[in-house]
Amino acid sequence: MPIYTLGLESSCDETGVGIIEGASKILANKIYSQSEIHEKYGGVVPEIASRNHLKKFTPLLEEALDEANLSLSDLDVVGATYGPGLVGPLLVGLSLGKSLAYSLEVPFYGINHLEAHVFAHFGPGKVAPPFLALLVSGGHTSLILVREWGEYRRLGETRDDAVGEAFDKVGHMTGIGYPAGPKIDKLSKDGDPSSFAFPRPMLDEGLDFSFAGLKSAVSREVNGRENFFLPDLLASFQEAAVETLTEKAIRAARQEEVGHISVMGGVSANSRLRERLSAAAGEYGLTTSFPPLALCTDNGAMIGITAAHKYKNREEPSGHELGPSPSLNLG
Ligand code: KG4
Ligand code: ZN
Repeated sequence: MPIYTLGLESSCDETGVGIIEGASKILANKIYSQSEIHEKYGGVVPEIASRNHLKKFTPLLEEALDEANLSLSDLDVVGATYGPGLVGPLLVGLSLGKSLAYSLEVPFYGINHLEAHVFAHFGPGKVAPPFLALLVSGGHTSLILVREWGEYRRLGETRDDAVGEAFDKVGHMTGIGYPAGPKIDKLSKDGDPSSFAFPRPMLDEGLDFSFAGLKSAVSREVNGRENFFLPDLLASFQEAAVETLTEKAIRAARQEEVGHISVMGGVSANSRLRERLSAAAGEYGLTTSFPPLALCTDNGAMIGITAAHKYKNREEPSGHELGPSPSLNLG
């Protein structure tokens, strides 16, 4: 009999329900994105996000079970994100996960959202450790050495804004809406990335990142110029961010002598990052991998895959007293 694992995600503004068969076969991956609701505020409003998670989890769970052709009683394991993220939204998914597991009398695992982004690779496009993980999302920008599954060492991280946050703030100041990452990616295709000379903070220094100075430089141009071609500005910003990520990821891989760089988190969907990092890595004989687009941004399948792995590894399930951990990290 296969093992069926339910994964619940609600760390930010995406409600995600995934159902996994065995280690990584995705039977359903239902996502409800609240981004349109939060767009008018220019960012996520935690209280509104919590309420929408409450409203959406039950219908998404029903849809996911339907799609997987299963009923609740078929589930063998339940996992839910317990951090990092917004405390209210986390509480909704975590409480649902714990109560479902309790009533079904199956093991429950609280899942680190960052570890789950790394595990998204257990789906299609598999990667085996050791490798370097470049985790780039709205909340994180980290370089992590994955020696074994479950064994992580943080080599570098942002000292201020996360790179996805910088994309979203540039989107806000140019009025293109939230979340801005995909929009900047698309609009940049019509722009010239060399038209604005934006800074690449800390490019030559170590493995940490800094994006606040870049964001301020973009803001000065937006406020200081009468008119400019928006795609040029966005492409120049994107290029500065992508160059920094590329440079540091390659530096870290060479320093740690690993041959593979794997990119995950929402910003890993960025087409210019995929192109530039793959090409630069190739010059050093390094290989790269990116999760399929559906597994790049927040989703329940990645939570389910991580929970399934913990169950298979006979890890101790989480206690029902486990609470949300908003500033949880990895490594
Ligand atoms: O991993 P994720 O869904 O949520 C967090 O855990 O933060 O990442 C969301 C972030 C947002 O900042 C969004 O603007 C960014 O990922 N993003 C992108 C792209 N698609 C999503 N950034 C750049 N290019 C993209 N194509
Ligand atoms: Zn995420």
